[in-house]
Amino acid sequence: MNKLEGKVALVTGGNSGIGLATAKRFVAEGAYVFITGRRQTELDAAVKEIGKNVTGVQSDVSKLTDLDRLFATIEKEQGHLDVLFANAGGGEIAPLGAITEEHFDKTFNTNVKGLLFTVQKALPLLPEGASIILNASTASRKGTPAFSVYSATKAAVRSFARNWTLDLKERKIRVNAISPGVVPTPGYNLLGLSDEQVQEFVDSQAITIPLGRVGTPDEIAKAVVFLASDDSSFVNGIELFVDGGMAQI
Ligand SMILES: NC(=O)c1ccc[n+]([C@@H]2O[C@H](COP(=O)([O-])OP(=O)(O)OC[C@H]3O[C@@H](n4cnc5c(N)ncnc54)[C@H](OP(=O)(O)O)[C@@H]3O)[C@@H](O)[C@H]2O)c1
Repeated sequence: MNKLEGKVALVTGGNSGIGLATAKRFVAEGAYVFITGRRQTELDAAVKEIGKNVTGVQSDVSKLTDLDRLFATIEKEQGHLDVLFANAGGGEIAPLGAITEEHFDKTFNTNVKGLLFTVQKALPLLPEGASIILNASTASRKGTPAFSVYSATKAAVRSFARNWTLDLKERKIRVNAISPGVVPTPGYNLLGLSDEQVQEFVDSQAITIPLGRVGTPDEIAKAVVFLASDDSSFVNGIELFVDGGMAQI
């Protein structure tokens, strides 16, 4: 029995990394999936890779008019939304002393403002019992050199999950955060690191993780399927760490 049979899902930032892996799992579990991203070429490639039961809608989560167009498309094509994975996000390295206003605005506009308005604008389409999953990070509770602005956005995301369970209480909509640990994706190169630097980082992190290795996007996707499906029907407001134990020690 498929875990998401007949469900309609949205994965923001579904053209790469964790979002793409999750969109694939959602479709494999019987859902119809909308994916988004700013880059049209990557979006088209992802739609092709997923292969069926998927629509790509080019949109930037930090632009409210793009979000309006996204939800108008979902309403027109499917009429409602059962599962929302607010995943689009990212960060760049900037140590305190070198943080610019542009760095701050870009990170908060995507990870916090974009995520908030994605969820808020989705509300009219969500039926009773819908599931919202917010992509936070182990950075929500751990310190990382030169990554404070990103980490602060993820602490905000974690807080949203706590508060929104209360705001959505009457509608029985569940809101949970998922916090991946170290999971190499194309996003790591976007941090401004070369492949060699990414590998060095991965090796340095693996020895700090109780399981002795970093994770894969599909390992995060499987946990998102759990939070999206009825298997987690009594799980609400949590932060599910999928990190090999890294943030637990
Ligand atoms: N990988 C990890 O180790 C890790 C750990 C903890 C948390 N996370 C979180 O996981 C999420 C996905 O990251 P990833 O590692 O899978 O990186 P990724 O491969 O770079 O994917 C990021 C996705 O977000 C989209 N995106 C970025 N800014 C956007 C915007 N303004 N509007 C719409 N889409 C946007 C990107 O598409 P476009 O560029 O085309 O817009 C892309 O699809 C992020 O929220 C990240 O913070 C990742």
